[in-house]
Amino acid sequence: MPQIIFLPHAEHCPEGAVVDAQPGETIIAAAKRNDIDIEHACEMSCACTTCHVIVREGFQSLEASDELEDDMLDKAWGLEPNSRLSCQAVVGDKDLTVEIPKYTINQVSEGH
Ligand code: FES
Repeated sequence: MPQIIFLPHAEHCPEGAVVDAQPGETIIAAAKRNDIDIEHACEMSCACTTCHVIVREGFQSLEASDELEDDMLDKAWGLEPNSRLSCQAVVGDKDLTVEIPKYTINQVSEGH
C-alpha cells in the first residue's frame, strides 16, 4: 500500500503526516480520511485551484493530468512543474511526498 508523506503545513498538518493511501484514490481523498483538510472549494470537480499541491517525490507514478486540470493549474498560486490538483491526482503504486502550498488563490485574493 503506498504511503503519502505530507510535509508540514501550518494550518492543515503542523507536524507533517504519513498516511496510507489506496491505489486509485485521489491525494485529497487520502488526506481527508486522515483529517488533513486540504481546501476544495469546487467540491473536487476540477473547477478551482484551492486543492493545489506540489508532489515533491513520486510525481511520475501519478496518472498524467488532463487538459482541464492543466488549464486550472495555470491559475494556481505558487505553480511548479510538479504541481497537481489533489482532487484529480490519482495515487499509483509508489509512495508520494506532497507539499501543501502556503496559500491558495482564495487567500491571495483576500490580500495575504
Ligand atoms: S477542489 Fe476544486 S479543483 Fe480540486
